[in-house]
Amino acid sequence: MIKQIVDNKRQFMKLLLLADEQENMIERYLERGELFVLEEEEEVKAVCVVTDEGGGVFEIKNLATAPEHQRKGYGKAMVQFVSNHYRDQGHTLLVGTGDSPLTLPFYEACGFVISHQIDNFFTDHYDHPIYEGGKQLIHMIVLKKALSE
Ligand SMILES: CC(C)(COP(=O)(O)OP(=O)(O)OC[C@H]1O[C@@H](n2cnc3c(N)ncnc32)[C@H](O)[C@@H]1OP(=O)(O)O)[C@@H](O)C(=O)NCCC(=O)NCCS
Repeated sequence: MIKQIVDNKRQFMKLLLLADEQENMIERYLERGELFVLEEEEEVKAVCVVTDEGGGVFEIKNLATAPEHQRKGYGKAMVQFVSNHYRDQGHTLLVGTGDSPLTLPFYEACGFVISHQIDNFFTDHYDHPIYEGGKQLIHMIVLKKALSE
């Protein structure tokens, strides 16, 4: 149900843009990252890109569930798959996200806890203001989860 995509990763750009709305930011991690796709009934329901940050640390750079399939457990299933996949290769899974009521509760429901904040990440790296749930994203909140969990 979840498979890794090696060739033509850009074919999933439409879904990847749901989680990261600026294409040149996605290009910073898409090639070096590993892309996983959750497919059911021949339809792609969710995508995820994970990078190897070195020293046993892996990072979810992008995770998106197709809008019509959100809140059905696909995002959580993807996090569980990724945790299992990297368990033998490292100790920590990170994810950076905006200070958003749409995403923080999701990651907390998946077992992540807040680690630290990268000040002004969204205002420094994006060419336009990013809004989520009516709120402008300024700082990146980095969450962590032990891969052994
Ligand atoms: C965030 C996202 C990936 C969650 O995926 P999903 O498949 O809808 O999530 P799940 O159905 O697996 O949710 C698991 C649990 O997380 C929590 N959760 C998920 N979305 C939530 C929301 N919008 N508000 C509050 N809690 C939420 C709930 O506890 C949920 O369990 P429940 O549905 O039984 O209450 C999805 O909403 C999405 O693609 N959003 C747009 C892209 C994005 O912002 N990506 C994250 C930034 S990298």
